[in-house]
Amino acid sequence: MSDGSLLRCWFFSGKKPETETPARSNEGVIRGRVMGEPTWTREKLRRLVHREIGDYRLIVVSNRQPYVHDLVGGELSYASPAGGLTTAIDPLMQECGGTWVAFGGGKGDLYAVDEKNRIQVPPDDPSYTLRLVWLTEEEQQGYYYGFSNQGLWPLCHNAFIEPTFQTSDWETYKSVNNEFARQVLDEVDGRPAAVFTQDYHLALLPRLLREADPNIITGQFWHIPWPTYEIFRICPWGDQLLDGLLGNDLLGFHIGDHCDNFMEAASRILGSSVHDEYNLVYQNEEPTLVRPFPISVDFEQISQESRSPEVTEEIDRLTEEMKLGGMIVGLGIDRIDYTKGIPHRIRAIGRFLEKYPEYIGKVVFIQAGVMSRTDIDAYQRLSDQIDQELNNVNGRFAHDDWRPIVYLPDDLPAVTLAALRRIANFCVVSSLHDGMNLVAKEYVASRFDEDGVLVLSPFTGAASELTDSVIVNPYATEKFADAICEAVEMPYEERHGRMVRMRSVVEENNIYLWAARLFVDLMQGTRRSRRPVRSF
Ligand code: G6P
Repeated sequence: MSDGSLLRCWFFSGKKPETETPARSNEGVIRGRVMGEPTWTREKLRRLVHREIGDYRLIVVSNRQPYVHDLVGGELSYASPAGGLTTAIDPLMQECGGTWVAFGGGKGDLYAVDEKNRIQVPPDDPSYTLRLVWLTEEEQQGYYYGFSNQGLWPLCHNAFIEPTFQTSDWETYKSVNNEFARQVLDEVDGRPAAVFTQDYHLALLPRLLREADPNIITGQFWHIPWPTYEIFRICPWGDQLLDGLLGNDLLGFHIGDHCDNFMEAASRILGSSVHDEYNLVYQNEEPTLVRPFPISVDFEQISQESRSPEVTEEIDRLTEEMKLGGMIVGLGIDRIDYTKGIPHRIRAIGRFLEKYPEYIGKVVFIQAGVMSRTDIDAYQRLSDQIDQELNNVNGRFAHDDWRPIVYLPDDLPAVTLAALRRIANFCVVSSLHDGMNLVAKEYVASRFDEDGVLVLSPFTGAASELTDSVIVNPYATEKFADAICEAVEMPYEERHGRMVRMRSVVEENNIYLWAARLFVDLMQGTRRSRRPVRSF
């Protein structure tokens, strides 16, 4: 967190309410009980949750569900969607139990749930309840494709895509947030509950919950960046978004800069009183604790899975089918999104081959990715742009049966992705802006052989932790090409040293530490005042 005096001056724009309970830092609990031990595990998280949760029920709310059901030829199947959200929250829910409320967006979802729209998940080994919310086509257009993904998503990412704000989308966003509130309150049913909301689709939910039942503990994690005040203030309904989010007892971002940006917006747009030495924002004399929680992955599980015989078999299959034997392999794995810098990466590979022609025929770059939000124009344009860049590079350099870039825009099975991570001599994450980027941490976690180079954009949250990666600005094509060359030529000792250090960072700061810090702040660092309950 920034503690600059200038920032502090305007943060102290309001009076400190007398009723304040200074926020408790969880450092003591976390450090005292666990930081001395090697790593956080599921088991430790489970013990912590049981100790802290008492009579409270944990309810997670998000737009995207962790398991999407499909129906093909009368057969139900399920899959986990791409993106950091499920990767991070599903292990937490598996350990904590409780209920996850999400939009039922899969073709087979209606057939998978019971009469109360619930299903026990994970489907193969159930440990918590998933409750699905149904939305009409119109609601999805206005709330998901409209305000969330053509308004808030580009607003929060510096990728130079102009956000569009339509009044009708905003109205739908509000009504869908109300619908989620109705369903969550039905789930809570007046009992003690902690509701942990995810991301930018549900910014108004916490205020709605607090107004309806002030006893609910409300926490939210914002999985994407929070922009600067100058950018945020172009949103016509920014004040209402801020007020909605300040219905949270706890609000988490990945890094301190995003917390600072949020607090500046609250202070300057709403006139909230901000106390940065406690990380507190007061709105209507009620505090919200705003803290950074850098999200992570299940290091142990990824590391273990990466060693499995299935992955080794898959490596053999891919090496043969894709003729990778003797090749230096580079890898990109992304949701196909304009924030990920995929065209920039392809251009840099082209420049690398131009500048270092000795690698023509010797390096193969595999770009895997799953298509995303394809109904939105900006994503269709991105798809066309990727095709053009690919044709350009492959057209210039391919010969015989060698192509420099192999593009696999498919939803690849987990075993194939794990095999690709192990095959790859280097992995490139070139986001133009990214809250964290878990692909970078997954690559590091999967390299139990302590080899491989990560080329990483400084505009990711991950760059502040993975300082042993090769950090390069994706807009600087020349330097990017040199960074690829550095990755390709890095001697084993250096690769090994860097990977060992990065692995120890991800191993220690794993998803269970993230969840534990959040959970302790949610349950202990918040006020639990008993206010009168108003009917919703
Ligand atoms: C990002 C967001 C998540 C979202 C994911 C996939 O990681 O932070 O909230 O679920 O992208 O995007 P989608 O629109 O398919 O849910």
